[in-house]
Amino acid sequence: MLTLGIETSCDDTAASVVRDGSYALSSVVSSQDDIHSKYGGIVPELASRRHIEMIIPVVDEALIRAGVALSDIDGLAVTEGPGLVGSILVGLNFAKSVAYAAKKPLAGVNHIAAHPLAAFLKETPEADVPDFPFVALIASGGHTTLVRYDGFADYAILGSTLDDAAGEAFDKVAKLLGLGFPGGAIIDGLAKAGDPRAFDFTRPYMGKTSLDFSFSGIKTAALEHVRAFKEELTPDAVSGIAASFQEAVVDVLVVKAIRALERTGSNRLVVAGGVACNSRLRLRLQEAATEADARLFMPAPRYCSDNAAMIAVMGFNQLQKGASASLDLNARPTWEGF
Ligand code: KG4
Ligand code: ZN
Repeated sequence: MLTLGIETSCDDTAASVVRDGSYALSSVVSSQDDIHSKYGGIVPELASRRHIEMIIPVVDEALIRAGVALSDIDGLAVTEGPGLVGSILVGLNFAKSVAYAAKKPLAGVNHIAAHPLAAFLKETPEADVPDFPFVALIASGGHTTLVRYDGFADYAILGSTLDDAAGEAFDKVAKLLGLGFPGGAIIDGLAKAGDPRAFDFTRPYMGKTSLDFSFSGIKTAALEHVRAFKEELTPDAVSGIAASFQEAVVDVLVVKAIRALERTGSNRLVVAGGVACNSRLRLRLQEAATEADARLFMPAPRYCSDNAAMIAVMGFNQLQKGASASLDLNARPTWEGF
């Protein structure tokens, strides 16, 4: 069965063809970083306009790369929310039109809940995928959430950020350091040359039993370190602040993820979201999972950041259960619990 996934929740236009909810035959992502970087953040109006320009070429490209025609597709999956309403509506209306015209079933998908399902994408039939139940750490630009999954669309939130998301903290600290937007990958790169103990950063909420997160204090600490340098922020200071900040965020994410495993009695951890591309987080999670005797499932970076293959995996499973959305499916910019 072939599922066409469509994703436009934020600033990337993405489409993917996935076979049997397991094999990504194509995954096309058109980034808008070039548009938003000069504003230091995403401009919603510009995001939706670019989605309108890109949606048809991106879907076409996904079909071409998969070597299939629209008539071969068995069902569509589209991001219903959460995200920017103007962005979601572009993908949603497009998917509804195609589903109607081509007489295909359509699934509306929760973007955040779909992130960890990237772990079900296989490169080979032998590739390992997680069994249920598992714990997922979802760390993206808008979310930092620990979720217990008992089935594909059967999940319960264990903890969330009380203020900034981890990715948002990376982006804000990058801005303070005069780096570009989005800043997560830039900090990741610079931190390799920095000393993670050079600057003092508290680890908020780490000592608490709660599975919630708080990252705004870490961001404020970064601001104070930058201010202490006045105009003389040297390259060494930039990489030192980047490394020390990153280490603090990674410490908190790792401790809480392992704590969530203990709390749920699960020994399977899935990590997803753009921050799951972070090289230091990937290494530290690997070490922590080995120590905790847990299985770690980390999708390849291209399936951690926003993509439509994860949407297709969730949509495929919803459609298998017979859940086909009607044409009055509407955008859900906010989604209770997420
Ligand atoms: O999941 P995603 O692609 O989009 C959202 O749904 O938000 O996540 C984007 C976020 C951005 O904040 C970006 O800075 C962060 O993921 N990110 C990273 C890295 N790559 C992307 N953060 C830390 N290290 C990275 N290597
Ligand atoms: Zn995302």
